[in-house]
Amino acid sequence: MNILLIGSGGREHALAWKLAQSPSLTKLYAAPGNPGIAEEAECVTLDVSNHGAVVEFCQGKKIGLVVIGPEAPLVDGLADSLSAASIPAFGPSAKAAQLEGSKGFTKDLCARANIPTGGYVRTHSLAEATAALAKFTAPYVLKADGLAAGKGVVIAPDKDEAKAALADMFDGAFGEAGAQVVIEEFLEGEEASFFAITDGVSVLPFGTAQDHKQVGEGDVGPNTGGMGAYSPAPVLTGELQTRVIKEIIQPTVDTMRAEGMPYSGVLYAGLMLTATGPQLIEYNCRFGDPECQVLMTRFEGDLAAVMLACAKGELAGVEAGFDAKTALTVVMCAIGYPGTPEKGGAIDLGASEEDGAKVFHAGTKLVDGALVANGGRVLNVTASGANVTEAKAAAYEAVAKVDFPSGFYRSDIGWKEVAREGRA
Ligand code: AMP
Ligand code: GLY
Repeated sequence: MNILLIGSGGREHALAWKLAQSPSLTKLYAAPGNPGIAEEAECVTLDVSNHGAVVEFCQGKKIGLVVIGPEAPLVDGLADSLSAASIPAFGPSAKAAQLEGSKGFTKDLCARANIPTGGYVRTHSLAEATAALAKFTAPYVLKADGLAAGKGVVIAPDKDEAKAALADMFDGAFGEAGAQVVIEEFLEGEEASFFAITDGVSVLPFGTAQDHKQVGEGDVGPNTGGMGAYSPAPVLTGELQTRVIKEIIQPTVDTMRAEGMPYSGVLYAGLMLTATGPQLIEYNCRFGDPECQVLMTRFEGDLAAVMLACAKGELAGVEAGFDAKTALTVVMCAIGYPGTPEKGGAIDLGASEEDGAKVFHAGTKLVDGALVANGGRVLNVTASGANVTEAKAAAYEAVAKVDFPSGFYRSDIGWKEVAREGRA
């Protein structure tokens, strides 16, 4: 089978790397891809927002499966256009992708399906939102309703800051995404991510992870797309995972199906492990980045076959195996990230992969044959070990071998779990 992979980040490099190992793969194409992906796939130029052009490409190249990496083309209905042309696509329809595309949609769904999540109010104007603050206590959690590249959430410590943030949001700080704002209850606990692949009926658990969203060591400073991650997440014990499936994932899948918008693809649940149990913070309609890099490092099996079964609604009975070892990835960023990253910095990967580590390309490009930085998050240096402590040591050994003078990284990825392992 020929496969087309859409996307250009570290998540897609990890998917390309794993798809290239699939026995059911004949040829892999990637649009647009990146220099790392180019080692696994033929990179092609396609305007992904032009669905007709994507369909035409697939027909011309006899593509049997399209894997859509990022959320934007999903929310934009690319999977619908492919399905209409009878081309199997891994990823949800536009209606189902509202689980990520609208925070208010997901909150309403949780309310209808009795899924544990924080209390909330959807607001449509600054006056309405400011008045709604009275229903909550500090800190105030304010979310632009639509897609905002992971940056649409503000946690304001007091009412004055909340009012200022709301004014910015309704003033267009997050563009159209902020035309509606969800205000929600602040949940306390530790965050963890749970992944499931579903064809709208069957649910295949697909691993757990924890990431580090904040730019600074010790989890301080502005939010980013993720500075590092590890899988599995021991805080999500088997017992908690069973609860997550029963109380959160299955009711979501069942309700979406019952309401005529079956969800197909990977469902990524961002969870808060509160004193009373797991609560849903948010859904994403795609793999996490960089969580995908650690999941793919551990996944054992034919990824293309699992994704095709999902796309065709034939997931029942399909199993997923994962290496028992922990995988940990460190994100190397360009100085300036998450603000304005410095582009064009030279990168020499040296011998970083020689001891079994893998360097996924997130934001790189080749200029006259030389690898340079081309984005905020540039490289995902990934390694495995018997536990988080060992995986961390292996990953940082590889990081030390990368020469990237205009880059930086957090040196404490996995710190919470390393502390727990130290006490055990
Ligand atoms: P989101 O984009 O919805 O995942 O939010 C970004 C980050 O904000 C999350 O990873 C949490 O750290 C934090 N956050 C979001 N919602 C809440 C909430 N209701 N309570 C506490 N923290 C939250
Ligand atoms: N790492 C967080 C995300 O992919 O949304």
